[in-house]
Amino acid sequence: MRELKIFSGRANLPLSQKICEFLNLDLGSCKFQTFPDGEFHCKIEDVRGRDVFLVQPTCPPVNDNLMELLILIDTCRRASAERITAVIPYFGYARQDRKDEGRVPITAKLVANLITRAGADRVLAMDLHAAQIQGFFDVPVDHLYAGAVLTGYFRNKFKNPDDLVIVSPDEGSIKRAVGHAKRLGGKLAIIDKRRLGAETTKQENIIGGPVEGKIALMFDDMISTGGSICGAAELLKSKGAREIHVGASHGVFAGQALEKLAKAPVDSVVVTDSIPLAAEIDHPKIVRLTVASLLGEAIRRIHQHKSISGIFADEPIVNS
Ligand code: R5P
Repeated sequence: MRELKIFSGRANLPLSQKICEFLNLDLGSCKFQTFPDGEFHCKIEDVRGRDVFLVQPTCPPVNDNLMELLILIDTCRRASAERITAVIPYFGYARQDRKDEGRVPITAKLVANLITRAGADRVLAMDLHAAQIQGFFDVPVDHLYAGAVLTGYFRNKFKNPDDLVIVSPDEGSIKRAVGHAKRLGGKLAIIDKRRLGAETTKQENIIGGPVEGKIALMFDDMISTGGSICGAAELLKSKGAREIHVGASHGVFAGQALEKLAKAPVDSVVVTDSIPLAAEIDHPKIVRLTVASLLGEAIRRIHQHKSISGIFADEPIVNS
């Protein structure tokens, strides 16, 4: 079998290193340089004929990290790698995935085009903002869910399903919340969220529940400014939720998100390491779970031409 090689961009080196530890591999050697005018350059070790995986979440600084991924792909293509898989634990620009008004871009499609045109043969992504973004790529996409990692954490913490209400903070996350409710037990509640602007949301009603006296576990794909989660938490608290915990695959924490979360009636915020966290490591409410073994196992299976869905096959279902 062709040799497996993993390289990392500079967006999340600790995650790439953990993936390599899981796979018992050395991270491929890649020297980056930023020229005085801001342009990136890189030089990698020999990849001729290899099965190459490039790990790079396109998290903030989004444009730099995306460009670095494209440059890495181009480098490997020109160095005659046999196959290149872009491993994108967090796919930025995903929320602009349709024209919901005139004269606006569809950046998710544009970025998919750029990655494909640069020379990626496959993509391995995790919790894309919308599952249909897979179809924006004209190469195979393997789509992982961090849901099982989050479920495992909450299942250990909260043993009694009767105590729980599983909350979707908006209509877009209903399917995700239903999945968690199946695995954790508990009733389902949906927040009626209206987005007023990039940083402003309005939450007025809760559908389902009950919420009063319950431990609310709210699941979203990402926390960006924290507006959605903090608004939903205020509403849940006003309706009598006993505790409020949040599980999100991607902790983007843009702008004042961490300050907002510190003040919000949220007991804990559980995110994965799809995006590196530096400043907030000591944040008292934030818990980080690693997805290194999930990504590592997926890389192993892709390399060995095995099924990816098998990774999720053993997840127990409660109250189904
Ligand atoms: C929305 O559709 C997403 O699922 C998230 O709820 C949203 O993008 C989070 O953004 P923010 O934290 O800025 O409210």
